[in-house]
Amino acid sequence: MKKRINVGVVGLGYWGPNLVRNLRSIPDCRVKTVCDLNEERLRHIRSLYPEVEGETDFQRMVNNPEIDAVVIATSVRFHYPMAKASLTAGKHTLIEKPMATSTAECEELIEIAQRKGLVLMVGHTFLYSAAVRKIKEIVDNRDIGDLRYISARRLNLGLFQKDINVAWDLAPHDISIILYVMQELPFSVNCRGGAHITRGVEDVTSMSLHFSKERSAIIHSSWHDPRKIREMTIVGSRRMIVYDDISAQEKIKIYDVRVERPPHYDSFAEFHYAYHYGDTYSPHIKQDEPLKTECGHYIECIRDGAVPLTSGTAGLEVVRILEASSESLKLNGGPIDLWPQPNNGYSASPFPGQSMSPLMARSGQTVAPFPVAASRGNGNGTHAPFAKNGGNGTSAPFAKNGNGKAAGRNGHAAKVTAAGR
Ligand SMILES: NC(=O)c1ccc[n+]([C@@H]2O[C@H](COP(=O)([O-])OP(=O)(O)OC[C@H]3O[C@@H](n4cnc5c(N)ncnc54)[C@H](O)[C@@H]3O)[C@@H](O)[C@H]2O)c1
Repeated sequence: MKKRINVGVVGLGYWGPNLVRNLRSIPDCRVKTVCDLNEERLRHIRSLYPEVEGETDFQRMVNNPEIDAVVIATSVRFHYPMAKASLTAGKHTLIEKPMATSTAECEELIEIAQRKGLVLMVGHTFLYSAAVRKIKEIVDNRDIGDLRYISARRLNLGLFQKDINVAWDLAPHDISIILYVMQELPFSVNCRGGAHITRGVEDVTSMSLHFSKERSAIIHSSWHDPRKIREMTIVGSRRMIVYDDISAQEKIKIYDVRVERPPHYDSFAEFHYAYHYGDTYSPHIKQDEPLKTECGHYIECIRDGAVPLTSGTAGLEVVRILEASSESLKLNGGPIDLWPQPNNGYSASPFPGQSMSPLMARSGQTVAPFPVAASRGNGNGTHAPFAKNGGNGTSAPFAKNGNGKAAGRNGHAAKVTAAGR
């Protein structure tokens, strides 16, 4: 029998308990220790899982020789110091999104992981969802024609954060999905926003990413909206996809609609756009919990020594875009250059000495095989929605904050199915 991977999880606020619950369901994995400065949170988790050890000192947890891997689910400002301590102690490390507060921090973590031969993974949870993988399959099969643009809305009332703005909190999910579907890095970003509640912390932002061939993406993030909306529209030259992550039954709808310009016309009177309205189709999506797939993938990568789908480099790409969005906010929406277009042929990394993320890499890297089958709605792996008449289809960095209490919005009960913020 294979030795189980012993995992330590730090941060038992809102998200950490979901990670603990899912890691415990992976046969090869044992949650050995959970860590939080807040003893009440520790007591709560230990009341659910009495066999798990509780720890308040993160450094002591990573120094434990019995721990093989660490999962970090604390506030963003702790991600870098904790991940550095974990990797330095020789532990595989999974960091929640966003990976860190700057590209410099991400680059250092990637370098340490590479030098020590450790798995470094980032919790871009939505890339492990069957719906997103289905969208990728549809786009890759060119069922929607040429991909033109993507618009994303992630809105809610709260949860207000004090140390990061809403783009850093919510947009990592949309950015990671957009890069995954586009298979390209943007050459520039613009971002505008407003801070209505906490001075200097934007609670609503509108970000646009610009890609080659006139392709673009718009991301609207808000903590200041009456409704919870998690929606993405993927517009192609032939069809369009609407992805509604809140919908229980029809997360993805494919609209057979398009508009075309007349190929040639002699007079203005002859000029008519041609609108096509066809069927709407909703493929079956398997209802797996993305976080469980993510946790299983982490353990598999540790076992196989493979690069995760959401590697440190993928985390860095997202943080680079967030960093640029913050620069753009200061310029009231002015454009910030990112990766120059020639690099968007994906042959080389824009970061010296680093390979592109597995999402972008075309060759040369062993990317962990991913259970693609989980995303196949029609069971045979091919997707042709309109082929048939579809329809059913205590060390200093980890010290407590000023008032001696752990920063956190605690008291949230672990959800049965974790929904990413
Ligand atoms: N992948 C997703 O879909 C998703 C969803 C929600 C949150 N997240 C991410 O998870 C992370 C945590 O978010 P949250 O909402 O759970 O935060 P939270 O504030 O609710 O919880 C953080 C916990 O970390 C603990 N903590 C802080 N410093 C500590 C230290 N030095 N040692 C030990 N414990 C410490 C706090 O006491 C608190 O219990 C964030 O990075 C967030 O972006 C990811």
